[in-house]
Amino acid sequence: MRQSVISVALPDQSYNIAIVPNGFDQLGNWVIVQAEGVNLGRQILLVSNPAIFKLYGDRVVASLTKVGFIVAVHLIPAGEQHKTLASVQKIYDSALKHRLERSSTMVALGGGVVGDMTGFAASTWLRGINFVQVPTSLLAMVDASIGGKTGVNHPKGKNLIGAFHQPRLVFIDPLVLQTLPRREFRAGMAEVIKYGVIGSPGFFEQMEAAEKLSDVQSIAPELLESIVVQSCQAKADVVSQDEKEAGLRAILNYGHTIGHAVESLGNYQDLNHGEAVAVGMVAAGRIAAGMGLWDQENCDRQEALITKAGLPVTLPVVDHGGIVTALLSDKKVKAGKVRFVLPTAIGAVVIRDDVPENLLRSVLAELGESLE
Ligand SMILES: NC(=O)c1ccc[n+]([C@@H]2O[C@H](COP(=O)([O-])OP(=O)(O)OC[C@H]3O[C@@H](n4cnc5c(N)ncnc54)[C@H](O)[C@@H]3O)[C@@H](O)[C@H]2O)c1
Ligand SMILES: [Zn+2]
Repeated sequence: MRQSVISVALPDQSYNIAIVPNGFDQLGNWVIVQAEGVNLGRQILLVSNPAIFKLYGDRVVASLTKVGFIVAVHLIPAGEQHKTLASVQKIYDSALKHRLERSSTMVALGGGVVGDMTGFAASTWLRGINFVQVPTSLLAMVDASIGGKTGVNHPKGKNLIGAFHQPRLVFIDPLVLQTLPRREFRAGMAEVIKYGVIGSPGFFEQMEAAEKLSDVQSIAPELLESIVVQSCQAKADVVSQDEKEAGLRAILNYGHTIGHAVESLGNYQDLNHGEAVAVGMVAAGRIAAGMGLWDQENCDRQEALITKAGLPVTLPVVDHGGIVTALLSDKKVKAGKVRFVLPTAIGAVVIRDDVPENLLRSVLAELGESLE
C-alpha cells in the first residue's frame, strides 16, 4: 500500500511523520531507521489505554519485539480525567521497574490523552528520553502528536503543566480510525477543516467535493488517507516555522478562542473540544464577515462544510455574557485584548485584537438563538 512521509524540520531535532496504511507490522523497522545515528537502547515502555491496547497492542508489541526491542507495557484508564500528574507518576514507576535508561524509548499508542501524558513522562524521565508517537484518534493524528507539546492537566485548568519534547517519529496507520467512536472522529474533523480554512483552499475544496464526511465508514480510504496526510503537512509546516509558539503558530488557534470559552463554560461536558472548535470557527467566520474581512459566501461555505462533517454550528449555552467573561480570562489574552484569528479568504487568516465587543456579543447571541 501507499505510504507518505512528512518531515517536521526543526533546528535541534527534525523528525518524520510516517503515514502507512495497515502499517503496524512495520513500526519496529520504522523506529530503527528513523532513529539513525541515535542510540535507542533496547528497552521500550509502551503506554496505552486498555481499549486501544486490546485492539492494536499485540501487533505493535510484536513489530517492536521482532526488531530486537524489549517491550514493557503500561496501561492508563481512558479519559481526560486521567491526564494527571498521578498517572505520570505511575508511568515513572513502570519506567523504574523496567529499568528505562537515558537511551530508552517511550512509545505512546492512543489518542491525545495518552500521547500528551507519555510525551511529558518521556520529557522528564532522566531529564528526557526518546519518544515515539503512534496516534490512533483523528485528533491525535492531525494535531496532538505533531509539534512536541506534551503535558497534563492541573485540577484548576487543562494543560497547565507541560514541556516541549519532540518525538523521534510519528507513525500513523489511518485505517485504525475505523474503530474510533463516531463522535471522536467528527471532533478530529473540526481540526481538519481548520487547516483548510487557515491555509489550504485546495484541501478545503477537496472536502467540499466529497459526498460525505461525517462518518469514517462513508469516506473512501484514499480520501481518508489524503485528509490525514494534508492535515499533518499543514501542522508540520506551521510547527517547523515556529516551534515554540512565538508567532505564526498562533494561527492554529483559529476557532479556539471562542471554542475554549464555550468548552470551559460547559465544564467540558456539553461539547467536546472539536465540537467547540467547530462553533468557534462559525463565530470567527461571522465576526470576519461582520468586519468586512471576508464575504458572506465564504462564511456560508465554511458553515456548510462543518455541517457536512456532522459538527454543530450553534451554541448550546445561552449565557453569552459568560462567554465574553471567559474570553477575557483566556490565557491567550494579551494586555486585556482578546486576539482573534479571523479568516480573510478560504485559505488565509489574520490575527486581530480589535473585534468590536458589540459585534462579538451579537454574533454569540445569533448562534445561541438559532437553537431556541
Ligand atoms: N499536544 C498537543 O499539541 C495537543 C493538541 C490538541 C489536543 N491535545 C490533547 O489531546 C487530548 C484529546 O485527544 P483525543 O481527542 O485523541 O482524546 P482521547 O485521547 O481521550 O481519545 C478519545 C477516545 O477515543 C478512544 N480511541 C482513540 N483511538 C481509538 C481507536 N483507533 N479505536 C477506538 N477507540 C479509540 C480513546 O480510548 C478515548 O476513549 C486532550 O487532552 C488535549 O488537550 C494536545
Ligand atoms: Zn484544537
